Amino acid sequence: MSARAARVTAHAKINLGLRILAREAGGYHGLETVFARIALGDLLTVRVDTTGRSLDCAGADVGPTERNLAWRAALAFADATGWPRGFAIELRKCVPVGGGLGGGSADAGAVLRALAALAPHAPSEEELLRLAISLGSDVPFLTLASPMALAWGRGERMLRLSPLPERPVALVSPDFAVSTADAYAWLAASRGAWAPQPLALDADALGSWESLAPLVTNDFEVPVSLRHPEIARIIDGLHRAGASIARLSGSGSTVFGIFPAPPVAEALARELPGRVMLTRTLERVTPVELVE
Ligand code: C5P
Repeated sequence: MSARAARVTAHAKINLGLRILAREAGGYHGLETVFARIALGDLLTVRVDTTGRSLDCAGADVGPTERNLAWRAALAFADATGWPRGFAIELRKCVPVGGGLGGGSADAGAVLRALAALAPHAPSEEELLRLAISLGSDVPFLTLASPMALAWGRGERMLRLSPLPERPVALVSPDFAVSTADAYAWLAASRGAWAPQPLALDADALGSWESLAPLVTNDFEVPVSLRHPEIARIIDGLHRAGASIARLSGSGSTVFGIFPAPPVAEALARELPGRVMLTRTLERVTPVELVE
């Protein structure tokens, strides 16, 4: 084992579209989603450690270590691969927590990629994805080095898409969170027994920003906006400011806008009820960097 540490950016995701399908036997709903990664990400350093196992987290309160997805990913990796040493993970949170941007899931994906790069016998991508699936629906995509993908089921079936040209993105995070469980319950209550069929989106339909824009919606937008009208106001405001796509990401509460040219953050912040951050979509996911 030569390199003893790896640095990796856990780029967050936005859901360019999210369709929630029927509830399956296990109680969870199938989904169909178009994922895109954004430049904003948490920063992780994973060190091979001879003695202990540790996670050191800065930048945001993310709760107990045992529930942290970066930690759980490292334990799952160690169990599955017989990782011979300890590890020390340093995590600097930059992605808003609990906003539908997949920050925790991206941390898990980044830890899996970093440990795979440091391991004496790197596991195959298939093995990594198996671990990723066990950690949550967003983790498989956030373990890939692909900037865009279509995903189905519980996020385990994916079609990698050719990246679209980079576009500026505004993220608007209101000062309330939306629990995923609540969002599913609100959606189920609004639908009754009905559930949509998959759209059968394909790589051609998703081959340009222009062809993608009219196709994709987020099924959580209406039920979440009914409880939190600020969401609909932010989406309208982003459209008025020139966004070509403005949507809730995941089950929220962060809303993103994709712009043809960089918007002015201060102007958006004056108009919209939430914290504004500017970032961009990615054409390439930053590779793991081996250090020391
Ligand atoms: O994935 P997470 O544990 O955050 O999900 C919280 C709740 O949201 C689940 O207990 C379930 O009720 C609902 N859910 C669902 N279908 C999914 C994901 C979550 O019904 N695909």
